[in-house]
Amino acid sequence: MADDKLSRVRDAVGAHEGFPKPGIVFRDIFPVLRNPSVFNDLNDLIYEAAKAVPGVECIVGLDSRGFLFGPILALKLNVPFVPVRKKGKLPGAVERVSYTLEYGSDEFEVQKDSVSKGQKVLIIDDLLATGGTMKAACQLMEKLEADVVLCLVIIELTDLGGRKKLTAPFKTLLEYE
Ligand code: PRP
Ligand code: ADE
Repeated sequence: MADDKLSRVRDAVGAHEGFPKPGIVFRDIFPVLRNPSVFNDLNDLIYEAAKAVPGVECIVGLDSRGFLFGPILALKLNVPFVPVRKKGKLPGAVERVSYTLEYGSDEFEVQKDSVSKGQKVLIIDDLLATGGTMKAACQLMEKLEADVVLCLVIIELTDLGGRKKLTAPFKTLLEYE
C-alpha cells in the first residue's frame, strides 16, 4: 500500500536536464501537486514518516517548496507550522545564517519567537541536494536551542552526499542518483 503510493509519487516527479544550469537534472515536485490523488498519497507518506518519530511539537518548512507540505503536516499533527525564509522576508527579530546551494548561495532567516527552547521540531523540505539548505535550517534551530528530531525530505539526490552534512536524524521518501 505504502509502496504503491510511493511508486505513484515517483512516477509523477518530473526531470529537466540542464535546468537551471547545464549539468543539473532538476527534479520537479510540482507535477505531483497537479494530481490530487497522488498529492494525497504523498501527504499520507509524509504523515506516516512524521508519526514514526514520537513527540514532534513543531513543523519547520523551508522556503519555498517546504511550504507546500509543512502546513498540511502540521495541521494533521495539530502542531504549529513555522517558516524558514530567504533573507529580508520575515518581520521582527530574526536569526540568520548563510548557506551554499547546488547552484548558488543565499541567507536563511527564522523569527526568534517562533520556536521555543527545547521544542522538538521536524524540518521538512521537498529535496536534499548538497545539504546546504537543510544544514542551514538546522543551524537556525540550534540558535533557537530547539531539538531537531527529524530532517524530512521527499527527494534525496544521493550522489551529492548532502546527508553527510547533517547531524540530526534524516529521512527521505525517494532517492535519485
Ligand atoms: C531547492 C530545494 C531545496 C534546496 C536543496 O530550493 O527546494 O530547498 O534547493 O538544495 P541543497 O541541498 O543543495 O541546499 P531552492 O533554493 O532552489 O529554492 P526554492 O525552493 O525557492 O525553489
Ligand atoms: N534544488 C537543488 N538542486 C535541485 C535539483 N537538482 N532539482 C530540484 N531542486 C533542486
